[in-house]
Amino acid sequence: MDSSIKDDIDQFKKRDNVTILAHYYNSEEIQSVADFVGDSLALAKVAVDSPADTVVVCGVRFMAETVKLLNPEKTVLLPCAAADCPMAHMVDADKVAMLRSRYGDDLAVACYVNSTLEAKALSDVCITSANALDVIGQMPQPIIHLIPDRNLGAHIAGAIPQKQFIFGDGCCAVHDDIDACTVMALKDAYPGAPVLVHPECSAAVRALADVVGSTSALVGEVERGRAGTYIMCTVEGVRHRVAEFVGPEKKVVFPAPTPRCVDMDKVTLEMLRDVLMHHLDGRQERGKGFCVEIDEELARRAARPVERMFSLSFAKRA
Ligand code: 13P
Ligand code: SF4
Repeated sequence: MDSSIKDDIDQFKKRDNVTILAHYYNSEEIQSVADFVGDSLALAKVAVDSPADTVVVCGVRFMAETVKLLNPEKTVLLPCAAADCPMAHMVDADKVAMLRSRYGDDLAVACYVNSTLEAKALSDVCITSANALDVIGQMPQPIIHLIPDRNLGAHIAGAIPQKQFIFGDGCCAVHDDIDACTVMALKDAYPGAPVLVHPECSAAVRALADVVGSTSALVGEVERGRAGTYIMCTVEGVRHRVAEFVGPEKKVVFPAPTPRCVDMDKVTLEMLRDVLMHHLDGRQERGKGFCVEIDEELARRAARPVERMFSLSFAKRA
């Protein structure tokens, strides 16, 4: 790692009221300078609880937008403007409108947080992979249109058979491409190793899972589990978290080709330093990154389902 870039970032952390959030899928060097590393739900929660005026979200665009929706008074920065989750754009607004007119009040639109602000604004409630079961289980409507991820949709539908589900047509290519045969080969190579699967994976891979869960749930399984080796069906970045907090006595192995999120990989340490220099020091020569600004009317409509998600997840816990 370039220690002078890291020193610059540390200076900002000491001097300015700034917090740096990273996702488990970010590179090791980004995770190592972050104040907090977590799944998409945890990043949104941490930003709300943080006293920082400026929050840098090192993940992809929808994560920074969600943080801004919940913290409109804070400056929210994304180091790489091009880091965007393709699945976020896979919502068919015409299908949502058609289903609303067909089913009326019997239908709720549940939008995965991996979505654009416009898709959120069309929805009744947001979900993440960490809370989808809790949140949808509490929705009063008998019919759920779950957008955009068809794989997460099928996973949730299997766990809530009393509701009727209509899935969107989107998916995450990184997870959907994980091949069941390569997972079977790992099961043969590591007999007894638990298979940990993100719900964005295909039905064939989920069928091989010992645990299906969000990134934090999967990392938690490794932390708490007794096995020495785990077969991990999600993006390889989680390896850094396991290495730092669990230690070398436990090993995670990934199906080939190693799953990587190209958009998360776009975020570099240099971009993180530059976005801070540009926005906190006004150094115009530096890379701008992206400062999230949301039109007031869109923010109002997109925040509603996100706040509903939080109120339902907290209600369940209370
Ligand atoms: P988590 O909600 O588990 O952090 O996942 C986000 C994501 O982008 C998965 O591909
Ligand atoms: Fe989007 Fe897939 Fe990357 Fe997650 S892993 S951010 S769903 S492209």
